[in-house]
Amino acid sequence: MATQQWNPETYEKNARFVSDLGAGVVDLLAPKAGERILDLGCGDGALTEKLVAAGCRVVAVDASAEQIAGAVKRGLDARIARAEALPFDHEFDAVFSNAVLHWIKDADGVVASVARALKPGGRFVAEFGGAGCIATIRSALTAALERRGLDARSVDPWYFPTDLEYAKKLKAHGFTVRFITLFPRPTPLPGEAAAWLETFAQPFLGAVAAADRPALIAEVCDAMRPALYSPDTGWTADYIRLRFAAERAR
Ligand code: BEZ
Repeated sequence: MATQQWNPETYEKNARFVSDLGAGVVDLLAPKAGERILDLGCGDGALTEKLVAAGCRVVAVDASAEQIAGAVKRGLDARIARAEALPFDHEFDAVFSNAVLHWIKDADGVVASVARALKPGGRFVAEFGGAGCIATIRSALTAALERRGLDARSVDPWYFPTDLEYAKKLKAHGFTVRFITLFPRPTPLPGEAAAWLETFAQPFLGAVAAADRPALIAEVCDAMRPALYSPDTGWTADYIRLRFAAERAR
């Protein structure tokens, strides 16, 4: 199965909006100078820099070696680690995460791993794709693979829970949920939908032979165009976000 890879140049061109739109969850974190914070899934470190600028002592982790190389170039303390297997033991005041948790199907593993990384009373503040996120994009990709006799579910990398489902998980791992909300955030894309697919939907595209990929992309774009494209504003992705703040038991 093709996995999702992050290339620093295409990320800068096609995905910079991901960190640009992270201000809301940084505000919810309300970082305080001197706090020790783990940035979980830091990407190339654009938001980590904001936490450092707020005076926090930040460790940034990501599963992608390419992204960590970008974060290290910014001068950050950035390390390769998987969210479900964080090598930290009750040492952070807060764990922060933007636009990452929807890539990890083992959500219980992640929440347990975060609980271990936090000090008693530490905060877990995050935002990611929630139930219904990119429904138009996901169903166009699924239909295009199914037309080729392929099982889209086996390559679909995304986990988009409801607020109720995720709150239950947090509570099961000893968190008190202080705030949780699921909200639509239609997201204007910086370019063509094809570039979004090539950046974010690699597991689907990798399911077909390279020679068939341009046709697959064209078909998916045609299917999405009526819902997601306007000649005036270009492409807008149908993102739905889940944002929460929870506190680990003392
Ligand atoms: C998101 O940031 O919500 C997202 C990114 C890629 C695929 C799906 C959702």
